[in-house]
Amino acid sequence: MTENKENEGALSPEAYLDGLFGEDEDLARVRESIRERGMPDISVAPGYGRLLTMLVTAVRCKAVLEIGALAGYSGICLARGLAAGGRLTSLELKPEYAALATANIATAGYGAFAEMIVGDALTSLDQLQAAGRRFDFFFIDADKENYPNYLERAIKLAAPGALIAADNTLLRGRTLNETKQGPAVQAVRDFNRRLATDPRLLGTHLPSYDGLALFMVR
Ligand code: SAH
Ligand code: DHB
Ligand code: MG
Repeated sequence: MTENKENEGALSPEAYLDGLFGEDEDLARVRESIRERGMPDISVAPGYGRLLTMLVTAVRCKAVLEIGALAGYSGICLARGLAAGGRLTSLELKPEYAALATANIATAGYGAFAEMIVGDALTSLDQLQAAGRRFDFFFIDADKENYPNYLERAIKLAAPGALIAADNTLLRGRTLNETKQGPAVQAVRDFNRRLATDPRLLGTHLPSYDGLALFMVR
């Protein structure tokens, strides 16, 4: 044990900071709806949810695209930041998750500004591209094996200066562990390498919680 004993019993930085903010009624309701249904609570970390709201607000986003909706936690965080006339588009594979996210987003008051597209996200992204849609904020948070594909699609759909955020870039440490070579790990490593080397992109990673990539399309 090399940890210093003086800090025994200390909270993690994330737990300490989350404790300062607590969780509001609408987000607590999302978590409760996940628990009731026995779904995995893999919603975005609370601190990153607040960051999503802040970024969407700061950049005055009008068209936000989320890949992977689950129960609507990140959708509510994103919708909270929308400028007047702004819209959230969410892509979700599972019809039952899409229905729950739609209901939770509506209960939080954003139903009129939110669109849910059910189905495989790669197909939906190609349809959005064919329809000539453009977005100024992306939140990538679906199946990790497709992160490189989602990045390529997002760059194509990006308005100039668009922001791209992506959750779970550390995969609970597996990304950093060379003995881990599964398909999700390899895909996320490839994704992270592309972010670091693509001249069209400018940004960085936040290593708290499970890692968040935060990049801008030049
Ligand atoms: N962004 C959510 C959490 C998403 S969890 C939040 O923070 O609240 C990942 C989600 O991606 C799950 O709901 C899962 O069903 C969905 N998903 C997995 N594969 C997908 C695919 N190929 N296309 C669209 N959604 C997918
Ligand atoms: C996990 C967490 C996530 O935020 C996610 O999008 C997928 C999986 C997890 O901890 O397993
Ligand atoms: Mg995630």
